[in-house]
Amino acid sequence: MPTPPTILIFDSGLGGLTVLREIVRARPDAHYVYVADDAFFPYGHHTEDEIIARVVPLVGELIEAHAPDLVVIACNTASTLVMSHLRDAYRLPFVGTVPAIKPACISSRTRRVSVLGTRGTVKREYTRKLISDFAQGCEVTLVGSGELASLAEAALSGQRVRDEDIAAELAPCFVGDGANDPARTDTVVLACTHYPLLLERLTRLAPWPVDWIDPAPAIARRVADLLGPAGSESDEAGAEMIFTSKRPHALTDALTPFFGGRVPA
Ligand code: DGL
Repeated sequence: MPTPPTILIFDSGLGGLTVLREIVRARPDAHYVYVADDAFFPYGHHTEDEIIARVVPLVGELIEAHAPDLVVIACNTASTLVMSHLRDAYRLPFVGTVPAIKPACISSRTRRVSVLGTRGTVKREYTRKLISDFAQGCEVTLVGSGELASLAEAALSGQRVRDEDIAAELAPCFVGDGANDPARTDTVVLACTHYPLLLERLTRLAPWPVDWIDPAPAIARRVADLLGPAGSESDEAGAEMIFTSKRPHALTDALTPFFGGRVPA
């Protein structure tokens, strides 16, 4: 039987699990190494130079240690900065996660789209360029959230997170004169991989229904294309979870579904 490919998935914390979940569905045969750089979380609160100086050498060390066939940077805050640096430094395929502005603007009917990301992601030149290249006449509102990634981490870890705190981060995405305005926002781009962890609550707390755009399925398709045809699901294809803080964690039950039922070592 051919050796299963190793896929390394990197995020500042637990948000990349929403990308991992889709990749595991597309490639159940692969071996997964999920790395949460929780020692440096949240990336949204760091400067661009700090993130580049942190991520590029750290990913190099992880490649050295785990010899992956492909690396996914499952973090918009990092991907909008580091992809070209990583590709220059290391010879293997990288897949990034950047705001899904193009598909959102194609599908919006009211032509009003919001991009909900970290403060870092919405400030990036990269994000501004996606808007100027792909907005196609849509009005795009950039909403930088200071807290939503941390609230998502807290919720996944079983802590109580108040609806009011989530609703406050969400409110600026909803532009228009209430539910009867035909030109109100109808599409919100989830431009941080943490936010789909809260999707049910975002949907419930939204002032009116919108389409939420999560790029994870498209990222999974890209990974599957780059790796080529899948082998059959293999017993050897395990999963590892690494926290850079080396803090002990008791999240196994919450994490297992993201790994397709595997218990990460
Ligand atoms: N999950 C990360 C993203 O997609 C960001 C969270 C953070 O601020 O660290 O942008």
